[in-house]
Amino acid sequence: MCGIIGYAGGGNAAENVYEGLKRLEYRGYDSAGMAVIAPSGEVKVIKKQGKVSVLEPYIADIRGAVGMGHTRWATHGKPSDINAHPHSAGGIYVVHNGIIENYAELKEKLIAAGETFISETDSEVIAHLIKLNCDGNILTALHKTAKMLTGSYALMVMREGEHKIAVLKYRSSLIVGYGEGENFCASDRPALAGKCDKISVLEDGDFALISAEKIEIFDKDLTPVCRPKTENALTAEKLGLNGCPHYMLKELREVPQTVQNTFNSFNEVKDELSEVLSGTKRVIFLGCGTAYHAGLIGKKYFETFARIPAEAENASEFRYKDPVISRGDAVFAVTQSGETADTIEAALLAKSLGAKVIAVTNVPQSAITRCVHAVVPVAAGAEICVAATKSYVGQIAALYLCALTFAGKAVTPKEFKLLSELPAALQKTINNINVYTLAHMCARSGGVYFLGRGYDYAVALEGSLKLKEVSYVPSEGYPAGELKHGTLALIDENTVSVVLITDSALAPKSENAVEQVLSRGGKVAVITCLPAVAKRLEGKAEIILLPACNKFLSPLVSAIAVQELAYRTAVILGRDPDKPRNLAKSVTVE
Ligand code: AGP
Repeated sequence: MCGIIGYAGGGNAAENVYEGLKRLEYRGYDSAGMAVIAPSGEVKVIKKQGKVSVLEPYIADIRGAVGMGHTRWATHGKPSDINAHPHSAGGIYVVHNGIIENYAELKEKLIAAGETFISETDSEVIAHLIKLNCDGNILTALHKTAKMLTGSYALMVMREGEHKIAVLKYRSSLIVGYGEGENFCASDRPALAGKCDKISVLEDGDFALISAEKIEIFDKDLTPVCRPKTENALTAEKLGLNGCPHYMLKELREVPQTVQNTFNSFNEVKDELSEVLSGTKRVIFLGCGTAYHAGLIGKKYFETFARIPAEAENASEFRYKDPVISRGDAVFAVTQSGETADTIEAALLAKSLGAKVIAVTNVPQSAITRCVHAVVPVAAGAEICVAATKSYVGQIAALYLCALTFAGKAVTPKEFKLLSELPAALQKTINNINVYTLAHMCARSGGVYFLGRGYDYAVALEGSLKLKEVSYVPSEGYPAGELKHGTLALIDENTVSVVLITDSALAPKSENAVEQVLSRGGKVAVITCLPAVAKRLEGKAEIILLPACNKFLSPLVSAIAVQELAYRTAVILGRDPDKPRNLAKSVTVE
């Protein structure tokens, strides 16, 4: 949700900033801009509507060793050259990730004080405030300004004539990177992959001054502080496409490794998790979008293995419903990025009401990890495609282990065998899956309905989200049994119903749904790991037969099928699956 990058060093700032912005593009891609201080002290700005590449023709003309940039996901003001960052006022230049909630009130006062605004953004008020608060010291001006802002902000500020960047972090992520004769600041790790050996994660309220020579960090009172330095393990190679045309396909191919790595990482946190969960009487899963869908499966695992009440809820709904939380409740906050504002705020609320809170996240040291009692890692590695693929499957794998651990089941030899065989089964699924015919059916359809019961219903919801997210084909997920209670009215010859059937006990009931759709002229596809189901429905429906699988682990296998379907449909329709329209990967605003 907007990516920002700053550079100060002996190299070419414009090139470094541009490269960083390309790597942060998954955070927003409706407009981009940069500001670079020329050796003379003059600041050169370029900002344009469109993806980061719109800046490329201009960077050769921008000389300077200190600069900062922004790639935008619009919140206030439509995507346009004028609304793109940086915003400036009186020699102050600002890039901002977050939302200034009291901007309207501030803007009114600033206009009354004689300031002139040119954009529709909330961010522009920051430049004007710093300008008015600046008596020569950019850091104290930023400090004074911070006290006037309500909302969330990762900010970088430059001032004409000064070869350094002042930064401020509050409820939006920001890291600094220590290089050789050059230093960096950025929203997220991918921007700094291969650029520097060490990074520090800034805490809420931190300020920093970045120059070629040093990085100075200050707390909210401007007292100098040290933040832990950690290895920057992410390399540029790990961020490459590895021969794939899109990150979505590359990341889908990384599912088996993700699951294996997640199993391995779990051993390191198992004891701590058991301790945090001891005495738990109810579990609640919170997340947004795909992470919420993973929570729906986590809920089933806890109900089945531990026989305790379990719920799953959209984090955005939980926050505002005055939730009933008691001691003895454990809340799992599921989030790939660890940055989703709704999930973080919901987790904090649950914690304040007495729940134990566990983060299930793909990003170590992300914001969520700093406000919970325990962290369960999802070891998917960097996920660049806006649509979550490998992280979703990794979340399910992690939640499976959490439930088994809580249930106190030492993994039996039978379960151990199933788990150890899982990565190979996932690999086999990836190698053999063929959804081309179905993808063409979906691409031509007027609507796609994903149906299932039990675990299959949870995956149906994710299949539907994935398809609409990357292909823009209208789609919904429904419980197969609910079809006859209303959804059947939507079925006609232009619709495709994708029915997931992986549990033999529920198969006859789900097959009823297939027949009901066929009787009304709808097209049907069946995703199943049950050969008997495939045989019965052959000739009536398009069949996607998956490897045989234990019903509790089937969501990991069928997830690959629905993700592959969404990807292929998007490609057929000429969409960019990595950067779907209107979306961004880390939703750091409410
Ligand atoms: C997934 O394909 C979506 N891009 C989206 O639903 C995502 O899962 C959601 O925004 C939550 O993100 P998080 O896991 O980083 O918290």
